[in-house]
Amino acid sequence: MKREQSEQLRKLSSAVCPSGNLARDARAFLLAHGCTGTARHSEAVAVEARRLAMALGGEPEKAYAAGWLHDISAVIPDSGRLAAARDWEVEVLPEEEALPLLLHQKLSVVIAKTVFGISDPATLDAIGHHTTLRRGAGALEKLVFLADKLSWDQPGAPPYGEAVSSALVESLDRAVSTYLHWVWERRETMRVIHPWLREAWEEMRPGPFDRTSSDC
Ligand SMILES: [Fe+2]
Ligand SMILES: [Fe+2]
Repeated sequence: MKREQSEQLRKLSSAVCPSGNLARDARAFLLAHGCTGTARHSEAVAVEARRLAMALGGEPEKAYAAGWLHDISAVIPDSGRLAAARDWEVEVLPEEEALPLLLHQKLSVVIAKTVFGISDPATLDAIGHHTTLRRGAGALEKLVFLADKLSWDQPGAPPYGEAVSSALVESLDRAVSTYLHWVWERRETMRVIHPWLREAWEEMRPGPFDRTSSDC
């Protein structure tokens, strides 16, 4: 670990006075760094992830914690993400170098571990793949991924919201597949396609007997 990394993380850690209440601490941390919108969004994702976990038989408290921390690296501005990743010895893929916003899921894992003391692998994986998902994702990763998409931070309801919510009645995997299908149909509009998203799509895409004629 480089000295600069320790120094930057030490400064971030000094902004947290642990209260034993993760939600309170994460909100205070984000507000202390001027990330009001992210604090609001993170609470919405945490509540939605916990709701989904309760409905689908997951782990509600882990889902709630991952929801609160998934975007915690919003405290690092976009212009500083590449440098932070290199200082923190986070692997940077070419797609992430081209679009450093995509690094925020990995940077959130480092802050969750170092500043908030999270060590549970499933919780860290849910934070670390909430943007792109990945092949072989676990249930908690899928829950937090969907909660993030359903609690998006733009005006109005997400255009895929109804389809994903309907699919959730059937299963978590069906809902993930429905969302990925929506994204994949619009891949031409994406600046880069993260390889983890591509691999998640290849794994979760609807089978040939699930597709409608409009998919052909
Ligand atoms: Fe995010
Ligand atoms: Fe988010």
